[in-house]
Amino acid sequence: MKAIELNIEKALYFAEKEFNGNKDAARQAITTLEEGTGAGNDFLGWVKLPSETSQELLDRINATAKRLQENCDYVVCVGIGGSYLGAKAVNTALADNFEYYYAPNPKEPKVLYAGQNIGEEYTAELEKLLTGKRFGIIVISKSGTTTEPAIAFRILKELLEKQAGKTAAKDLIVAITDEKKGALRTLATQEGYETYVIPDNVGGRFSVLTPVGLLPIAVAGHDINKLMAGAVEMEKSTLRPNEDNIAETYARMRNALYQSGKKIEILANFDPKLHYFAEWWKQLYGESEGKDGKGIFPAAVDFTTDLHSMGQWIQEGERTIFETVISVAEPAVERRVPSDEANLDGLNYLAGKRIDEVNKMAELGTQMAHVDGGVPNMRIVIKSLDEHTLGGLIYFFEKACGISGYMLGVNPFNQPGVEAYKKNMFTLLKKPGY
Ligand code: PA5
Repeated sequence: MKAIELNIEKALYFAEKEFNGNKDAARQAITTLEEGTGAGNDFLGWVKLPSETSQELLDRINATAKRLQENCDYVVCVGIGGSYLGAKAVNTALADNFEYYYAPNPKEPKVLYAGQNIGEEYTAELEKLLTGKRFGIIVISKSGTTTEPAIAFRILKELLEKQAGKTAAKDLIVAITDEKKGALRTLATQEGYETYVIPDNVGGRFSVLTPVGLLPIAVAGHDINKLMAGAVEMEKSTLRPNEDNIAETYARMRNALYQSGKKIEILANFDPKLHYFAEWWKQLYGESEGKDGKGIFPAAVDFTTDLHSMGQWIQEGERTIFETVISVAEPAVERRVPSDEANLDGLNYLAGKRIDEVNKMAELGTQMAHVDGGVPNMRIVIKSLDEHTLGGLIYFFEKACGISGYMLGVNPFNQPGVEAYKKNMFTLLKKPGY
């Protein structure tokens, strides 16, 4: 099989007319993206990012990662939204499920996250964990002024300087921000931190393949060269409009379903390692499409876990949903259900079968039930959970998002709506100027 395959068979007959009718719109959207002639065209740096990223930059990121690995048992990534979710998604997908219960490995520090919430207990408990430990900080903010990461960074910087001394702390902090603007750039210059630039023309939610995602992923011990190679392949295969362009097909199918009244897309996985990938996807599609009174609402579930909580709603609730399932073809390990002589649990009919076979039958049974219940189903099959595949999957979703947003008639690259809560919060907190 290919690294990533898309099957729309079980969605098509729910909106065949709409799908057949939107081919030209999709092709126009791809051309608009390629030529940079659409709304938000100053934020198209992600389109050719994989092929235009230099080996020199990847080497430098790997060198910084090695330095942090050698000097830290914990590295805290401070950031929120697009400055957090991509790294969290890839690091979770590639990590051992129980990595946090193992002692730190001298070659691969534990990557922790802060600044993605304003929880007082979260902050205090993180400080408690890091007290007396060797740790470093990667602080990430494109604007350099976001409140959540700024608070977390102030606290962690103080702790690090107290523990390691100001001079040593300087070498344990890396800042990733705008080339010139923002408080974080000013601070990094004054303090002498190593810095990386978030390109001007790449928005937060499209930035995982810049140093924003690449450095934390490399620090966690994953191969960013392979990640980028997977993205480059997907960039090439989704460049032109054609029947094999899976980004075009996915964008067309979800727009066709939306036109036919399906307003909610549920991204479902059958592997808990993909939980945060869905969180990243939710931001990508939610911020890109939810505007001007339009947009498919992106939701996510982890199966089979959520079949025991959300399964009822999906099977029989309002018929305004469709499902996109990410299925991993081949797990990295093999485990079988053991046989038991007494068979008190009645499970011997599964004895000798792989756990994955049970999971795959659950997936197939779920697809059949949901489709019968009126839920269109798209299936994305990825070969395995590895860097190469994830790089391709990231770029696939980004490209499809750009196409889909233009087909919907919105500017997929702005996010004016996220300012509303901030203005209220700043006024309530009496921030100067509000
Ligand atoms: O996609 C976006 O633009 C946002 O989610 C941002 O990534 C998020 O608000 C963090 O912004 P910044 O990187 O400027 O701190």
